Amino acid sequence: MLGVKHAFACASGSAAIHCAVAAIDPEPGDEIVTTAITDMGALTPILYQGAIPVFADVDPHTYNVTAEAIARVLSPRTRAIVVTHLFGNPADMEAICALANERNIPIIEDCAQAFLARTNGSYVGTLGTVGAFSLQQGKHITTGEGGIVVTNDDAIARRVYHFINKAWGYGDPNPDHTFIALNYRMSELCGAVAAAQLEKLEDIVAKRQELAIELDRALSGVSGVETPVVHNGNEHTYWKYAIRGDERIVPGGVTAIAKRLREREIFTAPRYIQNPAFKCEIFEKQRTFGNSRWPFSIARPEAVDYDPSRFPGTFEALERVLVVPWNDRFSSDDVAYIADAIRWAVATSMTGGSDA
Ligand SMILES: Cc1ncc(COP(=O)(O)O)c(C=O)c1O
Repeated sequence: MLGVKHAFACASGSAAIHCAVAAIDPEPGDEIVTTAITDMGALTPILYQGAIPVFADVDPHTYNVTAEAIARVLSPRTRAIVVTHLFGNPADMEAICALANERNIPIIEDCAQAFLARTNGSYVGTLGTVGAFSLQQGKHITTGEGGIVVTNDDAIARRVYHFINKAWGYGDPNPDHTFIALNYRMSELCGAVAAAQLEKLEDIVAKRQELAIELDRALSGVSGVETPVVHNGNEHTYWKYAIRGDERIVPGGVTAIAKRLREREIFTAPRYIQNPAFKCEIFEKQRTFGNSRWPFSIARPEAVDYDPSRFPGTFEALERVLVVPWNDRFSSDDVAYIADAIRWAVATSMTGGSDA
């Protein structure tokens, strides 16, 4: 479907990221640039491989890392860049690939939320060195739990395949366990479900996009609310539909809007993951293996500097984002209901609680 040379099924999206990182094979203490607005399953694999996640700031309107923010945190120890296409909206891959190619740094694209999203006609996951997808139950398509790793690079492909299979050299003349690796295999039962789900994927994506256009139109002109910002050349595939609420215009911001939407039985997620990932105990207290703090114990101090002043876009993004659930089984009436409820929630927040 993606036109890639290699695609491997594995146990989860976290496993897919772990395979990608392990295939790149960082040295202990090497740095992998990533985003603080993501799932923990995209960060812990970096630590398990002995590398240091280094957070780049995001564009507060798209919630994605930018080339400029990545450039600010690159160091001689940077071994890879993870680009997450959040909510299904592609990051600026043209600029990020140009930066990475200049320095010969591989890119891992985290496409857990971005099945069939495109940049200038090319699918995300195929633009960097390796792409990772999730088939967890809430994603565009699912096998309950599962993941997929894709690449055009033969050497990376071989390491991914081995990493999924306890690094046993299947087919080698004298097979052996050639490096440290886990059992990250997908079961055949899940594989059968995945094959059936893949057949539905294009329709699922098309429907989600069609419905998103309807909500874009219905919300255009609602003061204090910004609909998803999709840059020229990009195709968003709407894992979720994220709106931005400006608390300077709508008192109480997205928390107030979400509270009112609950009254209409629309369950949104204000602030998405609530806090940047570096506010979790793993990063704040460097909780890893026993009391060793490894690999944080060998990190450059600048690589683990989480001072809020370095992440204005990240904090602004989480303060303003309201994640609206999205589903290809919504009808146009459902979308109209959501739009109407958002307009009502915003209007009542602005008038201090009375129905406008
Ligand atoms: C951006 C992102 N990366 C990685 C993951 C990890 O995937 P999984 O839950 O399948 O392990 C998820 C999702 O859950 C995700 O949303």
